[in-house]
Amino acid sequence: MNQYQQVCEQLKAQPKTWLVTGVAGFIGSNLLETLLKLDQTVVGLDNFATGHQHNLDEVQSLVSAAQWAKFRFIEGDIRQFADCQKACAGVNYVLHEAALGSVPRSIADPILTNSANITGFLNMLVAAKDAGVSSFTYAASSSTYGDHPALPKVEENIGKPLSPYAVTKYVNELYAEVFAKTYGFKAIGLRYFNVFGKRQDPNGAYAAVIPKWTASMIAGEDVFINGDGETSRDFCFIQNVVQANILAATAESDEAKNQVYNVALGDRTTLNELYRAIQDSLASNGVQFDRDPVYRDFRAGDVRHSQASIAKIQQHLGYAPEFKIAEGIQLAMRWYVDNLDK
Ligand SMILES: NC(=O)c1ccc[n+]([C@@H]2O[C@H](COP(=O)([O-])OP(=O)(O)OC[C@H]3O[C@@H](n4cnc5c(N)ncnc54)[C@H](O)[C@@H]3O)[C@@H](O)[C@H]2O)c1
Repeated sequence: MNQYQQVCEQLKAQPKTWLVTGVAGFIGSNLLETLLKLDQTVVGLDNFATGHQHNLDEVQSLVSAAQWAKFRFIEGDIRQFADCQKACAGVNYVLHEAALGSVPRSIADPILTNSANITGFLNMLVAAKDAGVSSFTYAASSSTYGDHPALPKVEENIGKPLSPYAVTKYVNELYAEVFAKTYGFKAIGLRYFNVFGKRQDPNGAYAAVIPKWTASMIAGEDVFINGDGETSRDFCFIQNVVQANILAATAESDEAKNQVYNVALGDRTTLNELYRAIQDSLASNGVQFDRDPVYRDFRAGDVRHSQASIAKIQQHLGYAPEFKIAEGIQLAMRWYVDNLDK
């Protein structure tokens, strides 16, 4: 049994109370699904800024009635301190996912991104500290590597941020570190690298690349690649991210805390490779899309290559990603075909 399986068994035997902020979003709703399936009690907080009721409805359909009864939803806003206080009351573990994602959104409206990602983050940190929670795990981001050219990315070596979004995610890390120094409140930051999987939103101007392309292919519309397609990313399937969160929240050793960790596969896939993988996977799911991509200009704020070292999280938290790219793409495509092709 690996460390993750052991932790899941312990949680089933001794259930805890979790707070998942951003619970109606992509990552939050997947955390909720796994936690309820482990018979945990979950409080969820969301203001539906980018999350959806249908994500919660889908989770309800995938768990038993008894498991769903252990979920309490608070419609609220992390920019309101009182909402954060209410959500943190009586909680053991906080998984803080609520934020406004997307580099282009932050370039279009930095004030809005700042309010959710910095003011909201600070509210959550204070509320969680005051409530005396056992652990606080938050969604950091690979965007913190900014213009640092080295590959693979190691946690200690970061560059200058390339977007307002990247600034906000780095400020989260700075606040977390200062809270450890000044209050002894030790949080864990998880720097996610391009997460994908079911329930990731394909709609809207700020959709991520995999759901956006998939929706276009299913609809038989042109797919655009920003740049020459040789830009690369370390795409990480959602279940690996769920594992990282559960391991981080339950980590007991002091040296594992007050740290940031890369959460990725440690692999690199170009956009051209990704395009073909999605095409092939959709074909095996009965959706034929034979068009070539349409190449256009590079996008502002995007880094050229990204690949994580996952040595630190493997060593400190026992992280062992279960899903490689191909398996993840296959699972995600099946979900999009079932849910979009109607
Ligand atoms: N998806 C990725 O590849 C990726 C990569 C790096 C970091 N992250 C981070 O992971 C977290 C989750 O991202 P996601 O992909 O699930 O995005 P998402 O947009 O699907 O989920 C974010 C959730 O937070 C909620 N939210 C936003 N502002 C809020 C507010 N003021 N009060 C309460 N709720 C609010 C939204 O309604 C939404 O449900 C975010 O912090 C994001 O920055 C994601």
